[in-house]
Amino acid sequence: MIDYAETIPNNVDLASDKTLQRALEKWQPAFLNWWNDAGPADSAKLEVYLRTAISVDKDGWANFGYVRMPDYRWGIFLVPRDENRIVSFGDHHGEPAWQEVPGEYRSTLRRIIVTQGDTEPASVEQQRLLGMTAPSLYDLRNLFQVNVEEGRHLWAMVYLLHRYFGRDGREEAEALLERRAGGQDNPRILTAFNEETRHWLAFFMFAFFTDRDGKFQLCSLAESAFDPLSRTCRFMLTEEAHHLFVGESGVARMIQRTCEVMRDNNTDDPAQVRASGAIDLETIQKYLNFHSSVTLDLYGSEISSNAATYYTTGLKGRFEETKLSDDHKLGGDTYPVQEVEGDKIVVRGVPALTAMNTRLRDDYIREIEAGVARWNRIPEQFGMAFRFTLPHVGFHRRIGNFARHHISPAGELMTEPAWNSRKYDWLPDADDDVFIQSLMGRVVEPGKFASWIAPPVRGIKGKPIDFEYVRFN
Ligand SMILES: [Fe+2]
Ligand SMILES: [Fe+2]
Repeated sequence: MIDYAETIPNNVDLASDKTLQRALEKWQPAFLNWWNDAGPADSAKLEVYLRTAISVDKDGWANFGYVRMPDYRWGIFLVPRDENRIVSFGDHHGEPAWQEVPGEYRSTLRRIIVTQGDTEPASVEQQRLLGMTAPSLYDLRNLFQVNVEEGRHLWAMVYLLHRYFGRDGREEAEALLERRAGGQDNPRILTAFNEETRHWLAFFMFAFFTDRDGKFQLCSLAESAFDPLSRTCRFMLTEEAHHLFVGESGVARMIQRTCEVMRDNNTDDPAQVRASGAIDLETIQKYLNFHSSVTLDLYGSEISSNAATYYTTGLKGRFEETKLSDDHKLGGDTYPVQEVEGDKIVVRGVPALTAMNTRLRDDYIREIEAGVARWNRIPEQFGMAFRFTLPHVGFHRRIGNFARHHISPAGELMTEPAWNSRKYDWLPDADDDVFIQSLMGRVVEPGKFASWIAPPVRGIKGKPIDFEYVRFN
Protein backbone atom coordinates (compact mmCIF):
# COMPACT_ATOMS: atom_id res chain seq x y z
CA MET A 1 0.00 0.00 0.00
CA ILE A 2 0.95 3.60 -0.42
CA ASP A 3 1.73 5.57 2.71
CA TYR A 4 -0.29 8.79 2.55
CA ALA A 5 0.60 9.72 6.13
CA GLU A 6 4.00 10.85 4.83
CA THR A 7 4.74 14.31 3.45
CA ILE A 8 5.64 12.54 0.22
CA PRO A 9 3.30 9.57 -0.37
CA ASN A 10 5.39 6.55 -1.31
CA ASN A 11 5.72 2.80 -1.27
CA VAL A 12 9.52 2.78 -1.23
CA ASP A 13 9.94 3.18 2.55
CA LEU A 14 11.29 6.67 2.15
CA ALA A 15 11.25 7.18 5.94
CA SER A 16 14.12 4.71 6.31
CA ASP A 17 16.49 6.89 4.27
CA LYS A 18 16.51 10.26 6.01
CA THR A 19 19.03 11.90 3.68
CA LEU A 20 17.02 10.99 0.60
CA GLN A 21 13.78 11.98 2.30
CA ARG A 22 15.17 15.40 3.23
CA ALA A 23 16.49 15.97 -0.28
CA LEU A 24 13.11 15.15 -1.82
CA GLU A 25 11.30 17.24 0.77
CA LYS A 26 13.43 20.14 -0.41
CA TRP A 27 12.55 19.44 -4.03
CA GLN A 28 8.82 19.20 -3.23
CA PRO A 29 8.15 22.95 -2.71
CA ALA A 30 10.14 23.67 -5.87
CA PHE A 31 7.87 21.26 -7.71
CA LEU A 32 4.79 23.05 -6.34
CA ASN A 33 6.22 26.38 -7.42
CA TRP A 34 6.71 24.94 -10.88
CA TRP A 35 3.12 23.61 -10.91
CA ASN A 36 1.73 27.00 -9.86
CA ASP A 37 3.89 28.84 -12.35
CA ALA A 38 3.74 26.54 -15.40
CA GLY A 39 0.85 24.14 -14.73
CA PRO A 40 -2.84 24.61 -15.72
CA ALA A 41 -3.67 28.34 -15.76
CA ASP A 42 -6.13 29.73 -13.19
CA SER A 43 -6.91 26.33 -11.77
CA ALA A 44 -5.70 26.44 -8.17
CA LYS A 45 -9.14 26.91 -6.61
CA LEU A 46 -11.06 24.44 -8.77
CA GLU A 47 -12.24 21.21 -7.20
CA VAL A 48 -11.63 18.43 -9.67
CA TYR A 49 -13.01 14.90 -9.54
CA LEU A 50 -9.68 13.09 -9.77
CA ARG A 51 -8.37 9.62 -9.22
CA THR A 52 -5.45 9.11 -6.88
CA ALA A 53 -3.53 5.85 -6.67
CA ILE A 54 -4.02 4.12 -3.34
CA SER A 55 -1.96 1.06 -4.18
CA VAL A 56 0.13 -0.18 -7.07
CA ASP A 57 -2.10 -3.20 -7.72
CA LYS A 58 -4.06 -3.47 -10.94
CA ASP A 59 -7.13 -2.01 -9.22
CA GLY A 60 -5.23 0.47 -7.13
CA TRP A 61 -7.20 3.27 -8.70
CA ALA A 62 -10.17 2.88 -6.35
CA ASN A 63 -9.87 6.37 -4.91
CA PHE A 64 -11.89 9.01 -6.78
CA GLY A 65 -12.86 12.32 -5.20
CA TYR A 66 -12.75 16.10 -5.42
CA VAL A 67 -9.26 17.54 -5.11
CA ARG A 68 -7.81 21.01 -5.56
CA MET A 69 -4.90 20.27 -7.84
CA PRO A 70 -2.17 21.92 -5.74
CA ASP A 71 -3.29 19.51 -2.98
CA TYR A 72 -2.95 16.45 -5.24
CA ARG A 73 -0.93 13.75 -3.49
CA TRP A 74 1.94 13.40 -5.92
CA GLY A 75 4.27 10.67 -4.79
CA ILE A 76 6.63 7.82 -5.53
CA PHE A 77 5.10 4.52 -6.53
CA LEU A 78 6.98 1.52 -7.87
CA VAL A 79 5.51 -1.89 -8.57
CA PRO A 80 6.82 -4.40 -5.99
CA ARG A 81 10.22 -5.94 -6.53
CA ASP A 82 10.44 -9.41 -8.04
CA GLU A 83 13.41 -10.95 -6.19
CA ASN A 84 13.98 -13.40 -9.04
CA ARG A 85 13.97 -10.92 -11.90
CA ILE A 86 16.82 -11.42 -14.35
CA VAL A 87 18.16 -9.28 -17.18
CA SER A 88 16.19 -10.47 -20.19
CA PHE A 89 18.40 -9.29 -23.09
CA GLY A 90 21.80 -8.06 -24.18
CA ASP A 91 25.28 -8.91 -22.93
CA HIS A 92 24.04 -9.38 -19.35
CA HIS A 93 21.18 -11.69 -20.32
CA GLY A 94 20.45 -14.14 -17.48
CA GLU A 95 22.26 -12.16 -14.75
CA PRO A 96 20.25 -10.88 -11.77
CA ALA A 97 18.57 -7.51 -12.48
CA TRP A 98 20.59 -4.57 -11.14
CA GLN A 99 19.47 -2.94 -7.92
CA GLU A 100 22.14 -0.24 -8.19
CA VAL A 101 23.54 1.59 -11.20
CA PRO A 102 26.73 0.02 -12.60
CA GLY A 103 29.43 2.70 -12.70
CA GLU A 104 30.17 2.24 -16.40
CA TYR A 105 26.54 2.95 -17.40
CA ARG A 106 25.92 5.74 -14.96
CA SER A 107 26.01 8.73 -17.28
CA THR A 108 24.10 7.00 -20.09
CA LEU A 109 21.38 5.87 -17.75
CA ARG A 110 21.13 9.31 -16.20
CA ARG A 111 20.71 10.81 -19.65
CA ILE A 112 17.93 8.35 -20.53
CA ILE A 113 16.08 9.13 -17.29
CA VAL A 114 16.50 12.89 -17.70
CA THR A 115 15.26 12.78 -21.30
CA GLN A 116 12.18 10.79 -20.31
CA GLY A 117 11.64 12.96 -17.22
CA ASP A 118 11.85 16.16 -19.25
CA THR A 119 8.85 15.24 -21.42
CA GLU A 120 6.55 14.93 -18.39
CA PRO A 121 6.50 18.56 -17.16
CA ALA A 122 6.91 19.70 -20.77
CA SER A 123 3.49 18.36 -21.80
CA VAL A 124 1.87 20.04 -18.79
CA GLU A 125 3.43 23.34 -19.88
CA GLN A 126 2.33 22.83 -23.48
CA GLN A 127 -1.25 22.31 -22.30
CA ARG A 128 -1.25 25.13 -19.76
CA LEU A 129 -3.97 27.24 -21.39
CA LEU A 130 -6.26 24.49 -22.67
CA GLY A 131 -8.49 24.53 -19.61
CA MET A 132 -9.72 27.99 -20.64
CA THR A 133 -11.39 26.49 -23.72
CA ALA A 134 -12.55 23.09 -22.48
CA PRO A 135 -15.53 21.76 -24.48
CA SER A 136 -17.17 20.33 -21.32
CA LEU A 137 -16.61 19.69 -17.62
CA TYR A 138 -15.97 16.06 -18.48
CA ASP A 139 -13.15 17.03 -20.83
CA LEU A 140 -11.77 19.62 -18.44
CA ARG A 141 -11.53 16.96 -15.77
CA ASN A 142 -9.77 14.55 -18.14
CA LEU A 143 -7.24 17.22 -19.11
CA PHE A 144 -6.47 17.90 -15.45
CA GLN A 145 -6.21 14.19 -14.69
CA VAL A 146 -3.64 13.83 -17.45
CA ASN A 147 -1.79 16.93 -16.19
CA VAL A 148 -1.50 15.80 -12.56
CA GLU A 149 -0.35 12.36 -13.70
CA GLU A 150 2.34 13.85 -15.94
CA GLY A 151 3.39 15.75 -12.82
CA ARG A 152 3.60 12.43 -11.00
CA HIS A 153 5.67 10.96 -13.81
CA LEU A 154 8.13 13.74 -13.16
CA TRP A 155 8.21 12.63 -9.53
CA ALA A 156 8.88 9.07 -10.70
CA MET A 157 11.99 10.11 -12.63
CA VAL A 158 13.14 12.56 -9.96
CA TYR A 159 13.03 9.82 -7.34
CA LEU A 160 15.42 7.74 -9.45
CA LEU A 161 17.73 10.72 -9.96
CA HIS A 162 17.84 11.51 -6.24
CA ARG A 163 18.09 7.95 -5.02
CA TYR A 164 20.63 6.56 -7.47
CA PHE A 165 22.65 9.41 -8.99
CA GLY A 166 23.88 11.44 -6.04
CA ARG A 167 24.74 15.08 -6.53
CA ASP A 168 24.48 14.93 -10.35
CA GLY A 169 21.01 13.48 -9.99
CA ARG A 170 19.90 16.24 -7.63
CA GLU A 171 21.17 18.87 -10.05
CA GLU A 172 19.34 17.23 -12.93
CA ALA A 173 16.16 17.14 -10.82
CA GLU A 174 16.40 20.88 -10.28
CA ALA A 175 17.04 21.51 -13.97
CA LEU A 176 13.86 19.57 -14.80
CA LEU A 177 11.91 22.33 -13.06
CA GLU A 178 13.86 25.12 -14.73
CA ARG A 179 13.50 24.29 -18.43
CA ARG A 180 10.24 25.42 -20.06
CA ALA A 181 8.38 24.18 -23.12
CA GLY A 182 9.01 26.74 -25.83
CA GLY A 183 11.38 28.68 -23.55
CA GLN A 184 13.76 30.94 -25.47
CA ASP A 185 16.81 30.46 -23.26
CA ASN A 186 16.10 27.14 -21.64
CA PRO A 187 13.74 24.99 -23.73
CA ARG A 188 12.73 21.39 -23.13
CA ILE A 189 15.07 18.75 -24.56
CA LEU A 190 12.96 17.32 -27.41
CA THR A 191 11.57 19.52 -30.19
CA ALA A 192 8.05 18.08 -30.16
CA PHE A 193 7.74 19.14 -26.52
CA ASN A 194 8.39 22.80 -27.21
CA GLU A 195 5.25 23.55 -29.25
CA GLU A 196 2.27 25.03 -27.47
CA THR A 197 -0.84 22.82 -27.64
CA ARG A 198 -3.09 25.55 -28.97
CA HIS A 199 -6.46 23.81 -29.07
CA TRP A 200 -8.30 20.64 -28.20
CA LEU A 201 -7.97 18.99 -31.58
CA ALA A 202 -4.20 19.21 -31.11
CA PHE A 203 -4.54 18.00 -27.52
CA PHE A 204 -6.52 14.90 -28.44
CA MET A 205 -4.15 14.09 -31.32
CA PHE A 206 -1.18 14.63 -28.98
CA ALA A 207 -2.69 12.29 -26.38
CA PHE A 208 -3.33 9.66 -29.06
CA PHE A 209 -0.01 9.88 -30.92
CA THR A 210 2.56 11.46 -28.61
CA ASP A 211 1.46 9.97 -25.29
CA ARG A 212 1.59 6.65 -27.10
CA ASP A 213 5.22 7.29 -28.00
CA GLY A 214 5.58 7.80 -24.23
CA LYS A 215 3.96 4.43 -23.68
CA PHE A 216 6.39 2.69 -26.03
CA GLN A 217 9.43 4.40 -24.51
CA LEU A 218 8.20 3.37 -21.06
CA CYS A 219 7.61 -0.19 -22.28
CA SER A 220 11.19 -0.45 -23.50
CA LEU A 221 12.51 1.07 -20.24
CA ALA A 222 10.26 -1.32 -18.27
CA GLU A 223 12.51 -4.07 -19.72
CA SER A 224 15.65 -2.36 -18.39
CA ALA A 225 18.21 -4.35 -16.43
CA PHE A 226 18.16 -1.47 -13.92
CA ASP A 227 15.33 -2.80 -11.81
CA PRO A 228 14.17 0.42 -10.09
CA LEU A 229 13.71 2.02 -13.53
CA SER A 230 11.76 -1.01 -14.71
CA ARG A 231 9.52 -0.96 -11.63
CA THR A 232 8.77 2.75 -11.82
CA CYS A 233 7.97 2.55 -15.56
CA ARG A 234 5.60 -0.34 -14.98
CA PHE A 235 3.50 1.76 -12.66
CA MET A 236 3.65 4.80 -14.96
CA LEU A 237 2.21 2.63 -17.74
CA THR A 238 -1.00 2.12 -15.77
CA GLU A 239 -1.45 5.91 -15.71
CA GLU A 240 -0.49 6.29 -19.36
CA ALA A 241 -3.32 4.01 -20.47
CA HIS A 242 -5.83 6.67 -19.40
CA HIS A 243 -4.03 9.36 -21.42
CA LEU A 244 -4.29 7.21 -24.54
CA PHE A 245 -7.99 6.71 -23.85
CA VAL A 246 -8.50 10.48 -23.57
CA GLY A 247 -6.82 10.97 -26.95
CA GLU A 248 -8.49 8.19 -28.87
CA SER A 249 -11.98 8.80 -27.48
CA GLY A 250 -11.61 12.57 -27.89
CA VAL A 251 -10.86 12.24 -31.61
CA ALA A 252 -13.60 9.62 -31.98
CA ARG A 253 -16.14 11.99 -30.41
CA MET A 254 -15.14 14.76 -32.83
CA ILE A 255 -15.56 12.38 -35.77
CA GLN A 256 -18.90 11.26 -34.38
CA ARG A 257 -20.11 14.85 -34.11
CA THR A 258 -18.93 15.70 -37.63
CA CYS A 259 -20.71 12.67 -39.09
CA GLU A 260 -23.91 13.65 -37.27
CA VAL A 261 -23.70 17.16 -38.76
CA MET A 262 -23.06 15.72 -42.23
CA ARG A 263 -26.03 13.40 -41.92
CA ASP A 264 -28.39 16.04 -40.49
CA ASN A 265 -27.45 18.54 -43.21
CA ASN A 266 -27.16 15.91 -45.89
CA THR A 267 -23.78 17.26 -46.97
CA ASP A 268 -20.16 16.28 -47.33
CA ASP A 269 -19.07 19.81 -48.15
CA PRO A 270 -16.36 20.87 -45.65
CA ALA A 271 -17.51 24.50 -45.79
CA GLN A 272 -21.04 23.52 -44.75
CA VAL A 273 -19.73 21.27 -42.00
CA ARG A 274 -17.66 24.17 -40.69
CA ALA A 275 -20.60 26.53 -40.94
CA SER A 276 -22.51 24.13 -38.68
CA GLY A 277 -19.84 24.42 -36.00
CA ALA A 278 -18.15 21.05 -36.54
CA ILE A 279 -14.70 20.14 -37.84
CA ASP A 280 -14.74 18.65 -41.34
CA LEU A 281 -13.17 15.20 -41.66
CA GLU A 282 -10.60 16.54 -44.14
CA THR A 283 -9.25 18.94 -41.53
CA ILE A 284 -9.15 16.23 -38.87
CA GLN A 285 -7.09 14.16 -41.34
CA LYS A 286 -4.62 17.05 -41.72
CA TYR A 287 -4.04 17.22 -37.96
CA LEU A 288 -3.70 13.46 -37.90
CA ASN A 289 -0.96 13.78 -40.55
CA PHE A 290 0.81 16.48 -38.59
CA HIS A 291 0.80 14.81 -35.17
CA SER A 292 1.61 11.41 -36.59
CA SER A 293 4.67 12.69 -38.44
CA VAL A 294 6.12 14.85 -35.65
CA THR A 295 5.67 11.98 -33.20
CA LEU A 296 7.58 9.54 -35.43
CA ASP A 297 10.56 11.88 -35.10
CA LEU A 298 10.61 11.13 -31.36
CA TYR A 299 11.85 7.61 -32.13
CA GLY A 300 15.09 9.11 -33.42
CA SER A 301 17.11 7.94 -36.40
CA GLU A 302 16.18 4.64 -38.01
CA ILE A 303 19.74 3.49 -37.66
CA SER A 304 21.41 4.36 -34.38
CA SER A 305 24.56 3.11 -32.71
CA ASN A 306 23.36 4.61 -29.41
CA ALA A 307 20.21 2.51 -29.60
CA ALA A 308 22.38 -0.56 -30.24
CA THR A 309 24.48 0.25 -27.18
CA TYR A 310 21.41 0.76 -25.00
CA TYR A 311 20.27 -2.71 -26.01
CA THR A 312 23.52 -4.65 -25.69
CA THR A 313 24.28 -3.05 -22.33
CA GLY A 314 20.80 -3.89 -21.01
CA LEU A 315 19.57 -0.34 -20.47
CA LYS A 316 16.63 -0.36 -22.87
CA GLY A 317 14.89 -3.43 -24.28
CA ARG A 318 12.41 -4.06 -27.06
CA PHE A 319 8.66 -3.72 -26.77
CA GLU A 320 7.51 -6.81 -24.85
CA GLU A 321 11.06 -8.18 -24.80
CA THR A 322 10.27 -11.04 -22.45
CA LYS A 323 7.48 -12.29 -24.72
CA LEU A 324 9.79 -12.54 -27.76
CA SER A 325 11.33 -15.89 -28.58
CA ASP A 326 14.78 -15.27 -30.00
CA ASP A 327 18.23 -15.19 -28.39
CA HIS A 328 17.68 -11.64 -27.01
CA LYS A 329 21.15 -10.67 -28.23
CA LEU A 330 20.42 -10.23 -31.95
CA GLY A 331 24.11 -10.44 -32.87
CA GLY A 332 23.68 -11.72 -36.44
CA ASP A 333 20.09 -10.66 -37.10
CA THR A 334 18.93 -8.12 -39.63
CA TYR A 335 15.90 -5.84 -39.61
CA PRO A 336 14.23 -4.17 -42.62
CA VAL A 337 14.63 -0.39 -42.75
CA GLN A 338 13.31 1.98 -45.42
CA GLU A 339 15.53 4.61 -46.96
CA VAL A 340 15.67 6.85 -49.99
CA GLU A 341 17.93 5.66 -52.79
CA GLY A 342 18.08 7.84 -55.86
CA ASP A 343 14.48 8.58 -56.79
CA LYS A 344 12.81 5.80 -54.86
CA ILE A 345 12.23 4.41 -51.41
CA VAL A 346 13.85 1.02 -50.88
CA VAL A 347 13.91 -1.48 -48.02
CA ARG A 348 17.29 -2.66 -46.79
CA GLY A 349 18.16 -5.28 -44.18
CA VAL A 350 20.46 -3.72 -41.58
CA PRO A 351 21.99 -5.21 -38.41
CA ALA A 352 19.03 -5.56 -36.04
CA LEU A 353 20.97 -4.04 -33.15
CA THR A 354 21.34 -0.74 -34.98
CA ALA A 355 17.64 -0.72 -35.94
CA MET A 356 16.18 -0.76 -32.42
CA ASN A 357 14.55 2.65 -32.91
CA THR A 358 12.91 1.49 -36.14
CA ARG A 359 11.66 -1.65 -34.53
CA LEU A 360 10.08 0.22 -31.60
CA ARG A 361 8.55 2.68 -34.05
CA ASP A 362 7.11 -0.18 -36.13
CA ASP A 363 5.55 -1.73 -33.01
CA TYR A 364 4.07 1.68 -32.25
CA ILE A 365 2.71 2.05 -35.78
CA ARG A 366 0.86 -1.25 -35.46
CA GLU A 367 -0.97 0.19 -32.46
CA ILE A 368 -1.88 3.48 -34.08
CA GLU A 369 -3.07 1.65 -37.20
CA ALA A 370 -5.50 -0.26 -35.00
CA GLY A 371 -6.69 3.01 -33.44
CA VAL A 372 -7.25 4.63 -36.83
CA ALA A 373 -9.22 1.55 -37.91
CA ARG A 374 -11.46 2.03 -34.86
CA TRP A 375 -11.98 5.70 -35.82
CA ASN A 376 -12.97 4.57 -39.31
CA ARG A 377 -15.86 2.54 -37.96
CA ILE A 378 -17.64 5.82 -37.26
CA PRO A 379 -18.05 7.10 -40.86
CA GLU A 380 -18.64 3.50 -41.84
CA GLN A 381 -21.59 3.25 -39.43
CA PHE A 382 -23.01 6.43 -40.96
CA GLY A 383 -22.68 4.87 -44.41
CA MET A 384 -20.09 7.46 -45.45
CA ALA A 385 -17.20 6.74 -47.78
CA PHE A 386 -14.57 8.83 -45.95
CA ARG A 387 -11.73 6.87 -44.32
CA PHE A 388 -8.80 8.19 -42.29
CA THR A 389 -5.34 7.02 -43.28
CA LEU A 390 -1.92 7.15 -41.67
CA PRO A 391 0.62 8.93 -43.81
CA HIS A 392 3.71 7.08 -45.03
CA VAL A 393 6.50 6.99 -42.41
CA GLY A 394 8.60 9.25 -44.62
CA PHE A 395 5.99 12.00 -44.75
CA HIS A 396 6.98 15.37 -43.22
CA ARG A 397 9.97 14.09 -41.27
CA ARG A 398 12.80 16.06 -39.71
CA ILE A 399 14.87 13.24 -38.27
CA GLY A 400 16.33 10.07 -39.77
CA ASN A 401 16.40 8.58 -43.26
CA PHE A 402 13.61 10.78 -44.62
CA ALA A 403 14.77 14.14 -43.30
CA ARG A 404 15.42 16.58 -46.15
CA HIS A 405 13.31 14.48 -48.54
CA HIS A 406 9.81 15.40 -49.62
CA ILE A 407 7.41 12.50 -49.45
CA SER A 408 3.66 12.52 -49.94
CA PRO A 409 1.29 10.76 -47.51
CA ALA A 410 1.02 7.98 -50.11
CA GLY A 411 4.80 7.53 -50.04
CA GLU A 412 5.83 9.18 -53.32
CA LEU A 413 9.07 11.10 -53.50
CA MET A 414 8.46 14.67 -54.60
CA THR A 415 10.54 17.59 -55.75
CA GLU A 416 10.65 20.57 -53.41
CA PRO A 417 8.47 22.79 -55.65
CA ALA A 418 5.89 20.00 -56.01
CA TRP A 419 5.90 19.51 -52.23
CA ASN A 420 5.50 23.21 -51.59
CA SER A 421 2.55 23.44 -53.90
CA ARG A 422 0.77 20.57 -52.19
CA LYS A 423 1.84 20.47 -48.56
CA TYR A 424 -1.21 22.35 -47.27
CA ASP A 425 -3.46 19.79 -48.89
CA TRP A 426 -2.01 17.48 -46.26
CA LEU A 427 -1.00 19.63 -43.31
CA PRO A 428 -3.00 22.25 -41.43
CA ASP A 429 -2.28 25.80 -42.54
CA ALA A 430 -2.75 29.03 -40.62
CA ASP A 431 -6.37 29.33 -41.77
CA ASP A 432 -7.19 25.85 -40.50
CA ASP A 433 -5.71 26.80 -37.18
CA VAL A 434 -7.67 30.03 -37.03
CA PHE A 435 -10.84 28.10 -37.78
CA ILE A 436 -10.19 25.51 -35.07
CA GLN A 437 -9.35 28.28 -32.60
CA SER A 438 -12.63 30.01 -33.49
CA LEU A 439 -14.55 26.97 -32.25
CA MET A 440 -12.80 26.93 -28.90
CA GLY A 441 -14.85 28.45 -26.10
CA ARG A 442 -15.25 27.21 -22.57
CA VAL A 443 -18.35 25.10 -21.89
CA VAL A 444 -18.86 24.60 -18.16
CA GLU A 445 -22.52 23.75 -17.71
CA PRO A 446 -22.73 20.12 -16.48
CA GLY A 447 -23.81 17.80 -19.30
CA LYS A 448 -23.30 20.42 -22.06
CA PHE A 449 -20.77 19.96 -24.86
CA ALA A 450 -19.26 22.28 -27.47
CA SER A 451 -20.75 22.11 -30.97
CA TRP A 452 -17.77 20.24 -32.42
CA ILE A 453 -17.67 17.24 -30.11
CA ALA A 454 -20.16 14.50 -29.17
CA PRO A 455 -20.68 13.53 -25.52
CA PRO A 456 -18.77 10.44 -24.33
CA VAL A 457 -20.52 7.10 -24.22
CA ARG A 458 -20.28 7.05 -20.43
CA GLY A 459 -19.01 9.20 -17.58
CA ILE A 460 -16.08 8.69 -15.22
CA LYS A 461 -16.19 5.86 -12.68
CA GLY A 462 -19.92 5.21 -13.11
CA LYS A 463 -20.88 8.89 -12.72
CA PRO A 464 -23.43 10.29 -15.18
CA ILE A 465 -22.26 12.40 -18.11
CA ASP A 466 -23.84 15.51 -16.58
CA PHE A 467 -21.98 15.02 -13.29
CA GLU A 468 -20.21 18.12 -11.99
CA TYR A 469 -16.68 16.87 -12.75
CA VAL A 470 -15.17 20.24 -11.90
CA ARG A 471 -16.56 22.60 -9.27
CA PHE A 472 -15.84 26.27 -9.74
CA ASN A 473 -17.44 27.48 -6.45
FE1 LIG B 1 3.90 10.72 -18.80
FE1 LIG C 1 0.94 10.68 -20.67
